[in-house]
Amino acid sequence: MKKYFIKTYGCQMNQADSLVVSRILDEAGFKNVKNLKEADVILILTCAVREHAERRALGQIFSLSSLKKKKRCLIGILGCMARTLKERLIDGCLKEGLFDFLLGPDAYRRLPEIIENKFKNYEDRPIAIIEEEKETYSDILPQINYEGIEGFVTIMRGCDNFCSYCIVPYVRGRERSRPISSIIKEIDFLLSKGKKLITLLGQNVFGYKNIENGRILNFADLLTNIFEKFSNLKYLHFLTSHPKDLSFELIEKISKLMKEGKLFKELHLPLQSGSNRILKLMNRKYTREEYYEKVKYLKELIPEISITTDLIVGFPTETEEDYEATLEMVRKIEFDFAYMFKYSERPYTKAREIFPKVEEEVKQERLEKLISLQNDITKRKNEEMINKSYPIIIIKVQNKESLGRLPNNKLAVVKEELEVGKEYIIKIIKIDGWTPIGEIIK
Ligand code: 5AD
Ligand code: SF4
Repeated sequence: MKKYFIKTYGCQMNQADSLVVSRILDEAGFKNVKNLKEADVILILTCAVREHAERRALGQIFSLSSLKKKKRCLIGILGCMARTLKERLIDGCLKEGLFDFLLGPDAYRRLPEIIENKFKNYEDRPIAIIEEEKETYSDILPQINYEGIEGFVTIMRGCDNFCSYCIVPYVRGRERSRPISSIIKEIDFLLSKGKKLITLLGQNVFGYKNIENGRILNFADLLTNIFEKFSNLKYLHFLTSHPKDLSFELIEKISKLMKEGKLFKELHLPLQSGSNRILKLMNRKYTREEYYEKVKYLKELIPEISITTDLIVGFPTETEEDYEATLEMVRKIEFDFAYMFKYSERPYTKAREIFPKVEEEVKQERLEKLISLQNDITKRKNEEMINKSYPIIIIKVQNKESLGRLPNNKLAVVKEELEVGKEYIIKIIKIDGWTPIGEIIK
């Protein structure tokens, strides 16, 4: 029995994909191993969203090539870097012999056949397959080879938004949604395996669209269907959402489900920039005013909602004034948490042609100042929870401490061993770093 090892980089979509890959290989008679040295097939599931992620994966690939000299094994590169690496192989920028095959995010079904073929023709040149078909892996239940009560369900793949900085539409292809029936089947499967907190995943979940029995079903319909089928399901969550597709009607639907305790009271809503000029260049299709109105309405309906975001500094042509506009939005909205990035130039994207670029030192300075502002806000927002009580669902117990999620999806620590999957009531007594620390009161 051939053994395989997977190392996954990048976002939760990739984590979810690694479980699809696992299922495909397990069904074909392979065995998953956690130790790279034991493996006959080493798979690197890559991310291309920023250059930094790409560099880390490349570093790993280079360091693996020495392993191939010691034993007969295959190295396969999967995921979002497959397209760029294929082009670099063809134009001779990348030396051959670093890996045996490259498979894009829609080509994972081919894995068993490719592995078999490569073992037979071990000395052959690398194979590269970047399929462009409308793959959704709808019929493949993900493998459960991880502990805990959190499960992930990919509801759609690809992206049609073409934000001008983003490589995703070029490496993950066009947007396509899975049928509701297959999503329901997967949730059912995860619940039967003990998962309790389910996250729906997609590059833009609000773009979910599927035609079933002649009717177009959107994201709101998907939520209705899920809660009809699983009436006791609580703390569903979804990632990621595009502000342009968040209608006021959808805000009302989501808030109602949050009030009923079915959805986490958290929305991740990437703002990217607070400057209308930059938002336009980014092709984001909303203004700072529209974004603000939506968040305001959400907070009116759910005052305790946690709003998280993604922000990019140093997009080409970004002036001090544009950057100030981002800081101003951050101060005004008071995000509970933000992922903050320096603009990173990516292949194929439109922003490559936008000049002038912002200098590296300026980008670094802007990022550091933004992080420091947001860190203060994150800490202050968490401090507001002190002396208040919340239900908590425990997700992990380690070193005599328990980690759990609050209804706003924030993580909190209780300094005693509790039962994973069980709910307790805690009072937040202090904030350690950014982490709320709680004591059980019930
Ligand atoms: N440079 C910097 N950040 C980027 N992101 C996507 N593409 C880039 C890029 N080229 C960020 C966006 C997105 C998150 C997943 O990654 O903020 O929301
Ligand atoms: Fe990239 Fe924009 Fe699509 Fe998000 S919505 S994956 S940032 S193109």
